[in-house]
Amino acid sequence: MSFIVAVDGPAGSGKSTISKMVAKKYKLTYLDTGAMYRMIAFTSIRDGVDLDNIDKVVDLLNKVSIDMKNDKFYVDGKDVSLEIRTPEVTAIVSKVAAIKEVRIKLVDLQRKISKGKDVILDGRDIGTVVFKDANLKIFLVASPEERAKRRVLDFKNKGIDEKFEDVLSEIIRRDEFDSNRNESPLKKAEDAIEIDTSFMNIDKVVEVISKLVEENKN
Ligand code: CDP
Repeated sequence: MSFIVAVDGPAGSGKSTISKMVAKKYKLTYLDTGAMYRMIAFTSIRDGVDLDNIDKVVDLLNKVSIDMKNDKFYVDGKDVSLEIRTPEVTAIVSKVAAIKEVRIKLVDLQRKISKGKDVILDGRDIGTVVFKDANLKIFLVASPEERAKRRVLDFKNKGIDEKFEDVLSEIIRRDEFDSNRNESPLKKAEDAIEIDTSFMNIDKVVEVISKLVEENKN
C-alpha cells in the first residue's frame, strides 16, 4: 500500500520548499506537478504553438518527452530547470494548465509515477482530483504580499532582480485564473488541513506537517 501526501495551495505558498523537506525527512518521492505544467508551457513557446489551436496542442503532447530526475527537469532530453521558471513561462503556464487535454495527460503521468510508491505531490488539484483518497491532504496558504516577498527573495538568491509589485500582481492574476477555470480549479479539498504560513517560518511549517504525517502514516 502506498502512502500519498497531497499538498495544494496558491502560487508561492511554499509548497515545493516544504514538500521537498518533508520528502527527505520521511523518504518519500517528491513530485512537483507545477513543473510538469511549466515544461509543457516551455515547449509551447519553443515550438511556437498557438494555445487556442487544440489540435496543435495535442500534437505537442503526443510528441514531447518530459522527464524529472534529481531535482532537474528535462524536455526532449534537455535540462530546462532554469527555463521553466522564467517570467515568460510563468506568464502562460496557467493558460496551458487550463487545457483539458494537457491535464488528462499530466494527471495520468502523475498517477503512473506515483504507483506503488510513498509520494508527496504538490500542485493545485492533488487532493481534489489526482489523489482524492490521499492519506493526508494539506492546503497551504499565505497572504499574497507575503508570498510575493518570498518569491522576490527566491529570485534574488538566484541572482535575478524582480520587482515586488510585478511579482505580486502576477501572483494575484495567476491565483484568480487558476481558481476560476473549469478544469480542476484551485480549491481546498473538504478533507484538507489548511495551514496559513504567513507568520510561520519554514521549519515551523515542516514541524506541523511532520506531526500530521506521523499521525496518518500507520
Ligand atoms: O511554484 P508556483 O506556485 O509559482 O507554481 P507551480 O506550482 O509551478 O504551478 C504553475 C502553474 O501550473 C499554476 O499556476 C497552475 O496554473 C498550474 N498547475 C496546475 O494547474 N495544477 C497543478 N497540479 C500544478 C500546477
